[in-house]
Amino acid sequence: MKSIQSNIKKAKKYLDKNDCIAVPTETVYGLAGNAYSNIAVKKIFKLKKRPVNNPLIAHYYDINKLKQDCHINDDFIKLFNKFSPGPITFILKLKKDSKISNFVTNKQKTLAVRFPKHLLFRKLLKNLNYPLAAPSANISTKLSSVQASDVIEEFGSKIKYVLNGGKCQIGVESTIINLTTKPTILRFGGLDISKIEQILKRRIIINTNSKKKIAPGQFPLHYSPGIPLRTNVKDPKNDEAFLLIKKRKITFKNYYYLSKKNDLKQAAKNLYSLLRRIKKDGYKMIAVEKIPNIGIGKTLNDRLNRASKF
Ligand code: TXA
Ligand code: MG
Repeated sequence: MKSIQSNIKKAKKYLDKNDCIAVPTETVYGLAGNAYSNIAVKKIFKLKKRPVNNPLIAHYYDINKLKQDCHINDDFIKLFNKFSPGPITFILKLKKDSKISNFVTNKQKTLAVRFPKHLLFRKLLKNLNYPLAAPSANISTKLSSVQASDVIEEFGSKIKYVLNGGKCQIGVESTIINLTTKPTILRFGGLDISKIEQILKRRIIINTNSKKKIAPGQFPLHYSPGIPLRTNVKDPKNDEAFLLIKKRKITFKNYYYLSKKNDLKQAAKNLYSLLRRIKKDGYKMIAVEKIPNIGIGKTLNDRLNRASKF
């Protein structure tokens, strides 16, 4: 308990000085900085090697703090009440007098906002008087980090502090929904879109490959393990690592189980760390078994398809 308090204090100290640090969320680790500070946000872009035209998500503790920066609407309230804090990001209209740095939004008039569920992150946000801009804690286009050691692997000594919150529960990024127009899904993620449809009581538009590319998570090359990957494979080649979702009678050295019970949630939780492990184990190619395209399986297939564009 005592160490939790002192770690949060340490994290706050860096953030108050406009430094960026890594924070745990229920989805993936974030690379966080004061969203009201140009200096802090510029550091995030530099560290991540992220193109400046790719806007960031602002993380808030509660709706009161959000209202200072964004206009909210009925659909937002419904979804917020049901799913936040949790793995959903809302695109909302920015208020004219919002204090959000122009570097967060790339000067657009909308803001991506999220209320993370991880208790450590929430404790930290509660102690700050600004929201945190935080993209996933990885070098641009690479695999997201799902534990503290992944963050160190990505950034080495360039990262000043990692608030260690253990392994991320969900393991894939948040679902992004644009609420500035007819509700539209911009990125599949940790929250199953059929649950969103149940709450809004209508079908929602899916636009995860926009030609306008308003969410560069929509870019084809993303979430890349850095070696070729192919999907829907029945029989892997001998020199390929084989990612599976269901236990086989005979297991070979190159078999890596996302889940042994066909459990899609567990598979999502294991996805990024297994891809990292396969690369470390020296494989030059990855084959993936067909993943059922239901629930969070849609998110898994989205990430794997993008990773296969390498
Ligand atoms: O789970 C998550 O969402 C994690 C954790 C750290 O919260 N964050 C994350 O951030 O995945 P990032 O930066 O890797 O992905 C955010 C996505 C990007 O694809 C970005 O283009 C999109 O959100 N985005 C940000 N602002 C936007 C806006 N105003 N309109 C549309 N898309 C936006
Ligand atoms: Mg990312």
